[in-house]
Amino acid sequence: MSVSEAFIRGIPKAELHLHIEGSLEPEQMFEFSRRNKVAIPFKSVQEVRAAYAFSNLQDFLDIYYQGANVLQTEEDFRDLALAYFERLNADGGRHAEIFFDPETHTDRGLPFSVAINGLLAGMKEAEAKYGVTSGLIMCFLRHLDEASSLKTLASAEPYLDRIAGVGLDSSEKGHPPSKFTRVFKAARDRGLKICAHAGEEGPPEYVHEALDILHVDRIDHGNRALEDEALTQRLVKQGMTLTVCPLSNLKLCVVHDLKDHPMKRMLQLGLKATCNSDDPAYFGGYVADNYIRTAQAVGLTREEIITLAKNSFTGSFLDAASIANHIAAINAYASAN
Ligand code: ADE
Ligand code: ZN
Repeated sequence: MSVSEAFIRGIPKAELHLHIEGSLEPEQMFEFSRRNKVAIPFKSVQEVRAAYAFSNLQDFLDIYYQGANVLQTEEDFRDLALAYFERLNADGGRHAEIFFDPETHTDRGLPFSVAINGLLAGMKEAEAKYGVTSGLIMCFLRHLDEASSLKTLASAEPYLDRIAGVGLDSSEKGHPPSKFTRVFKAARDRGLKICAHAGEEGPPEYVHEALDILHVDRIDHGNRALEDEALTQRLVKQGMTLTVCPLSNLKLCVVHDLKDHPMKRMLQLGLKATCNSDDPAYFGGYVADNYIRTAQAVGLTREEIITLAKNSFTGSFLDAASIANHIAAINAYASAN
């Protein structure tokens, strides 16, 4: 028997792979465009949605960076974050560790403080309003050079007590983790947690580099690690969390049919997979939709849904007591439902 949508939506969960700029819905894009008098090359929401047909990661990134141009003020970033947390709360989300891309904003002339102050304000309000906790992960754009990421880390210095970790995103192919050895070492020296997108489009070798050179605490995506049996075994043995994003994988043609998605195989292999939305406004679903559509496509069992929800907390950067509370809440939910 398949697991009910209501059970999946309601189970307490955390989201560990969410680009806040990727939660910019077309309606909001128009609102910010009007409010900030920034032109966008679309006449209607339908036209925007129609443009979201991607053949690969770069296709998506081109349109995603263009969309971010409408974000101009702290208020925009605050509104963006609050809208995301409202949806997360409706999806049973109790915690999120959200990515943002400072260079996307500083490279078009915004001061470093604008995005981060706005996001921190939205995160604080969301906790008061919904009881949803959150952490911030600052990503470096890998298509830029390491000097740019080092400059970004220096700009973040006054905010380090409010940043949980750093990540690596944008165009993967041709930009291996090793290109960012120094900036990740500097981030580690400052006590920040380490994430990196690896094995989304890039080869298993990039996952090896993320482990051996960047010393990651989590791998974002990691799909292509499955091509390397020894690497897969290593990830299982280390208990390395993978932040897997099924609807993103479908939209960016990492898989061609959700039925072919490796989520179930990952769990059966003993990999510590989690289920996430990546850029939900662009990929057609928030976190609960990712769980539900994947469960339907690959036949996830109730126990596998519970495992994914538990992995989302044990793979988070929360303290041990908070993790234990969330696991207890999942157990109570599973007993009652
Ligand atoms: N930036 C936003 N979404 C991304 C993804 N899925 N991969 C790499 N960079 C991204
Ligand atoms: Zn991502």
